[in-house]
Amino acid sequence: MKITKICCIGAGYVGGPTMAVIAQKCPEIQVTVVDLNEERIAAWNDENINNIPIYEPGLDKIVLEARGRNLFFSTDVEKAIDEAQIIFISVNTPTKTYGKGKGMAADLKYIELCARQIARVAKDNKIVVEKSTLPVRTAEAIKSILDNTGNGVQFQILSNPEFLAEGTAVQDLLNPDRILIGGDSSSEGQKAIEALVEVYSNWVPAVKILTTNVWSSELSKLTANAFLAQRISSINAVSELCEKTGADVNEVAKAIGMDSRIGSKFLKASVGFGGSCFQKDILNLVYIAKSYGLNEVADYWEQVIIMNDHQKRRFSNNIVQTLYNTVSDKKITFFGWAFKKDTNDTRESAAIYVADDLINENAKIAVYDPKVSRKKVLADLDYLETRTASANADSVLSFDTPYDACANSHAIAVLTEWDEFIQYDWQKIYDSMQKPAFVFDGRNVLNGPALEAIGFVYQGIGS
Ligand code: NAI
Repeated sequence: MKITKICCIGAGYVGGPTMAVIAQKCPEIQVTVVDLNEERIAAWNDENINNIPIYEPGLDKIVLEARGRNLFFSTDVEKAIDEAQIIFISVNTPTKTYGKGKGMAADLKYIELCARQIARVAKDNKIVVEKSTLPVRTAEAIKSILDNTGNGVQFQILSNPEFLAEGTAVQDLLNPDRILIGGDSSSEGQKAIEALVEVYSNWVPAVKILTTNVWSSELSKLTANAFLAQRISSINAVSELCEKTGADVNEVAKAIGMDSRIGSKFLKASVGFGGSCFQKDILNLVYIAKSYGLNEVADYWEQVIIMNDHQKRRFSNNIVQTLYNTVSDKKITFFGWAFKKDTNDTRESAAIYVADDLINENAKIAVYDPKVSRKKVLADLDYLETRTASANADSVLSFDTPYDACANSHAIAVLTEWDEFIQYDWQKIYDSMQKPAFVFDGRNVLNGPALEAIGFVYQGIGS
């Protein structure tokens, strides 16, 4: 089947960039990204390219090239479903906040709504692609809904999880390590796989396109995130031991990373991982393992989350302890609020939890992040429901420049590894701060000895 029209439901961090790259690489395919969120779609369509809702290096150029040519953003979900041969589902799958599996299982209500809508609208055969990260065996549920509520047309369900990392999404999409496509072993299933393989073949070498059964594909995505997060928790566990023993975690990471069996990536100690995926996907894996009675498997992976929570708490406790056991009414400057550099995404960012702890101790938090607004910072804190919105607003100070954010501050905490932090005039910052001036480098990105030479008291992670 020659694919000429694709629709993607969900114009978020995955749907937007993924479809922009497909549109750029396949000019003969019309790609329509739809979302219920009118504000988000309007932002994607904004004439000023700086206003598109997602910040990713290089994304603006790709959107500019393809938008209006063969890339469209719309709120007309039904029309896009009706016209498309392939429908990607790229909606959010957050952790459940209610009922059975609360706090662990993935909430599939958005997925089910999509499936029901596709079934209602589709008048010819469709390939439905799970792009969202889903629990293993979700395709079964989607298939059941489609087959039982549809108009008698045929649906093929494929699993095509997305492995992009925020901050490098465009590069990851243009040059992926692999594309994974899971499908049914029937001849119709194989034809659907081939159709999607052909789309990716426009720019991805054949050797990097892996096809599997649906369940392997679904489980591979959860497993990949669990392995990645596990490496961070492992090195963070070692960082605490380093602080007690005089070892330096950066040196340990380098020494073990040179072992080709271990490898050097994802071995950077930090205040803890964040982002919308790692925690939710591991909790989901834990929940699935428990639901099969695999308690040892569940406990093993749950420890990755426990370690990460410990690392965040340890960081805030250390700030309080170092600042003479009180931060009450002290100004503490946060460099960074996003969960990592080069993104404006703040979901599950360690900064949120560290700030929450320090506000509990009556600190005033002065946040400076090059891509995150005060509105977002306050929304993240309000979401925790620790205190009233007005109490949060009173505790968070906002400044337009990093230098203003540091004036009269007792301490700086680095929560995100933005490159620009390294380039700042640290002498100027030091001169404007209360003394002793502390720096807590939660990302181990600053030059500790250089800061100490200026007069700062510098503490990194794991040394
Ligand atoms: P997101 O929250 O940024 O975007 C999801 C969008 O779907 C929202 O704009 C929402 O309004 C829309 N939506 C929800 N239900 C809808 C419906 N019924 N009809 C139309 N639109 C609807 O989420 P994000 O980050 O793009 O994640 C999507 C999925 O991709 C999740 O399953 C996530 O686990 C997975 N994923 C995310 C990665 C990331 O780096 N953010 C990486 C790889 C996978």
